Amino acid sequence: MSNSKNRVAVLHGVNFGVLEKRDPELYGGLSLSELEYRISGWARELGLDPIFFQTDSEAEFCGYLHRLSETADAALINAGAWTHYSRAIGDALAVDPVPTVEVHLSDVNAREDWRKVSVFDGLTAAVVSGKGPDGYREALEVVADTLGTR
Ligand code: DQA
Repeated sequence: MSNSKNRVAVLHGVNFGVLEKRDPELYGGLSLSELEYRISGWARELGLDPIFFQTDSEAEFCGYLHRLSETADAALINAGAWTHYSRAIGDALAVDPVPTVEVHLSDVNAREDWRKVSVFDGLTAAVVSGKGPDGYREALEVVADTLGTR
């Protein structure tokens, strides 16, 4: 079942355009297109309409967040390394917020200490980390329950 509030923005930050070149032990070896294809299938099964965005530009990412509610009713954010230090991006998410789930392919809490910090702390409905691509499905389920699309 879907309703009119079913748009989910799936936002990837820095270095996700070359996901297939990054450490497969950590990130699974998929390209971003392959990951987005899976996310798209899961989203539709849950009655959600996905919109995808990726950039390596912090300014562009902030710009997208400034107008988030115009394009989306909810969001998944994997901001990559920006997650851990870009206060600008954290502040930008607070400008025009929608219910958001933070996602990481790898288990950020089991890695270096600097990855344990998130600029989105307190701004997101949930964090899904360390579950690989399947983590996006879990995050979409949170969104589907929040928007009431399933
Ligand atoms: C990541 C984890 C971050 O620490 C890292 O900088 C990334 C990917 C993940 O999905 O596991 O670029 O967000």
